Amino acid sequence: MFRILTLALLLAFSSSCAEEASSGSESGVEAGPAHAVCTLRGTRGNEGVQGSVRFTRQEGGVLIEAKVAGLSPGLHGFHIHEWGDVDCMDGKCAGGHFNPEGSNHGGPDGAVRHIGDMGNIEANKEGYGIYRRVDKRIQLSGPNGIIGRAVILHAGEDDLMSQPTGNAGARVAYGVIGIGKPKG
Ligand code: CU
Ligand code: ZN
Repeated sequence: MFRILTLALLLAFSSSCAEEASSGSESGVEAGPAHAVCTLRGTRGNEGVQGSVRFTRQEGGVLIEAKVAGLSPGLHGFHIHEWGDVDCMDGKCAGGHFNPEGSNHGGPDGAVRHIGDMGNIEANKEGYGIYRRVDKRIQLSGPNGIIGRAVILHAGEDDLMSQPTGNAGARVAYGVIGIGKPKG
């Protein structure tokens, strides 16, 4: 009788442990920050450019929201570059496009792309541009994690094709991606 009771207790204990473990993974909560932010400032000769980018982890990807002022009208290549190093006037110290998978350059919705490829921001006649989309490949932490890297905005349009940069021209604004404040 005692042995049966002990066995029953052991079983009850182990099944409650299993329940806890599975409810943890079922909740789908990823480790690491859920928000990231980047303040953009103009490179040398482009001091009038300024903006901000917010990254929010959500169901199915990362929501990217950007606002930029002081641009020339039209499309401007918009990327995450490898290094969070902005200690240079031309933005080149941020390195090339963030590309942890060793892929070719492409558009953000293409099968082949750098993780850092976010396409273009379109500025209106007043030089103001906004951008809002959910990216399924970018992560805030982990192998495709962007925190600590740089956002770069270019003088020209990213054609989403030319290698390795989309031929987007000089870098007009840059900023380092940091951990964002949780909401609420
Ligand atoms: Cu770029
Ligand atoms: Zn690229």
